[in-house]
Amino acid sequence: MAVDTDVLEDDWWKQAVVYQVYPRSFKDSDGDGLGDLPGIIDKIPYLKALGIDAVWLSPFYPSALADGGYDVIDYRNVDPRLGTMGDFDSMADALHAAGLKLIVDIVPNHTSNLHPWFREALEAGRGSSGRDRYIFREGRGDHGELPPNDWRSLFGGPAWERVDDGQWYLHIFAREQPDLNWKDPRVHEDFQRTLRFWSDHGADGFRIDVAHGLAKELDDRPLDQMDPDAVGNTLSHDGTSPLWDRNEVHDIYREWRAVFNEYRPPRFAVGEAWVVPEHQYRYASPTELGQVFNFEFAKANWNREQMGTAIREGMEAADRSGSTTTWVMSNHDIPRHASRYGLPQVDATNYHQLANDWILRDGRSYREDRALGTRRARAAILMELALPGSVYIYQGEELGLFEVPDLPWDRLEDPTARRTHGSATEKGRDGCRVPLPWSSEDQPESAPWQATFGQGGSFGFSPDTKEDGTPSDDPHLPQPLWFKDFCVDLQEGDDSSMLALYRKALALRSEWMKKALASGLDLEERKDDVLTFRRADVSGSGGLVCMTNFGTNPVPVQDGSIVLASGALQEGMIPTDTTVWIRF
Ligand code: NOJ
Repeated sequence: MAVDTDVLEDDWWKQAVVYQVYPRSFKDSDGDGLGDLPGIIDKIPYLKALGIDAVWLSPFYPSALADGGYDVIDYRNVDPRLGTMGDFDSMADALHAAGLKLIVDIVPNHTSNLHPWFREALEAGRGSSGRDRYIFREGRGDHGELPPNDWRSLFGGPAWERVDDGQWYLHIFAREQPDLNWKDPRVHEDFQRTLRFWSDHGADGFRIDVAHGLAKELDDRPLDQMDPDAVGNTLSHDGTSPLWDRNEVHDIYREWRAVFNEYRPPRFAVGEAWVVPEHQYRYASPTELGQVFNFEFAKANWNREQMGTAIREGMEAADRSGSTTTWVMSNHDIPRHASRYGLPQVDATNYHQLANDWILRDGRSYREDRALGTRRARAAILMELALPGSVYIYQGEELGLFEVPDLPWDRLEDPTARRTHGSATEKGRDGCRVPLPWSSEDQPESAPWQATFGQGGSFGFSPDTKEDGTPSDDPHLPQPLWFKDFCVDLQEGDDSSMLALYRKALALRSEWMKKALASGLDLEERKDDVLTFRRADVSGSGGLVCMTNFGTNPVPVQDGSIVLASGALQEGMIPTDTTVWIRF
């Protein structure tokens, strides 16, 4: 059978392993304590050796960092603290030369309040076309002193902010992130320009932030008669939410598809759309973005039933969209999965919730079982990488990093923490955004499980000194002392490390599975706690069986030869919390 290589090349993203770089925490090249683009260039050999296909960069644009860079001041530029456009081009070239693709983050739901459009909106005054790019409304009360309604922002506090002349603007996220009005054609034009700009600078694809939120309908009835919880109710089934998952949002992505198709190969996008699973396929369709994040693994508890359901539903959604699905366990918004899987099982709740309660909120007694979390994280990545579709890996998960739950309050950056500090409770998402530990040299002795900050040094995240010879600044978020045990240099020399497991699994995936296996799977119905799926070889004979034992007793291995296991077998059986790949 002839293989159309052009089509394969066009569809590179459908089975890709994408590594998420959170740029300010990946690698600092100049000693200012912030990761940067030259730092990414330095680490391309590491990314190549890991065996991934593409890098997704979270925002690296000029930003006041009110929300980790998701408050963009200039969509077509690089934050000077992270580099220049020249550095971006060099990075894109170097990634491509290494055979890696590049995905950049587009943030179309809101800008920064320091974006020139928002400044113009404030200066131009009420009723002006300058204001039309945002969502300004009059307030309630005799003097408009009350917000248009009582919506709460997703980061806490009111979702409306009043400006000097008395009008209010909507911000679903931080007050520094005014929501854009996608009824204004200028907004459409400008984002198309941005998509072309980065495509011309070497971006192969895009990750679309808050993809389900762009089209809003706030004029069909009085704002104070709308669902008071509309901001938090993202899971609308019928498309009638004034804010989320409306039909009109798909018109925007059809326009974008026309832009993507101007390029060879066509650009693709992956949407961050927290919608009901049965609506995901629309975002992922070939006439729209191409792919959508499937967060069901990230939400599932560590048990056969929930993981199995996530797999079944993910495959069904992919079929419906005519695309492939995505698998995600961690990202920069979620407590790290090695910590989540080390939490005790509590009835009637789930890891996602527990992690939020225990890790992200202060004042709870928190201690994950790290051996358990690590064992399960090893089993989880083998299960995930054996699946057809794309896998999104979050920086540091290949090192087995845990969440850093006890960052000092005065060092936190997340807007959630800033908004609630003093009154209580939410520490926010910084615990998974701590700069990576690269090198264990010249660092103090580690004290496992103990988080001691400000130890001096940065585990190789920053150079020792800046260009002028003065010592580098501290990493923008402090690293705990226990990071020493997770440094890349130690793991590179240890065949039993998490990094070694990721490298072996990724190599097998690209050399064998991606080339030889069909894109469907057969999930075995079983009554026990073993999750087993099979993927046939396209040649018609043989294939892969992936078995994960979620139960407590060891189980027999199915026929075939074992090519990789996440942990040692026990008398030839698969012990608890272990995944095995079998070639048959
Ligand atoms: C989703 C991003 O992943 C998150 O980090 C950000 O805070 C919100 N969107 C708002 O942009």
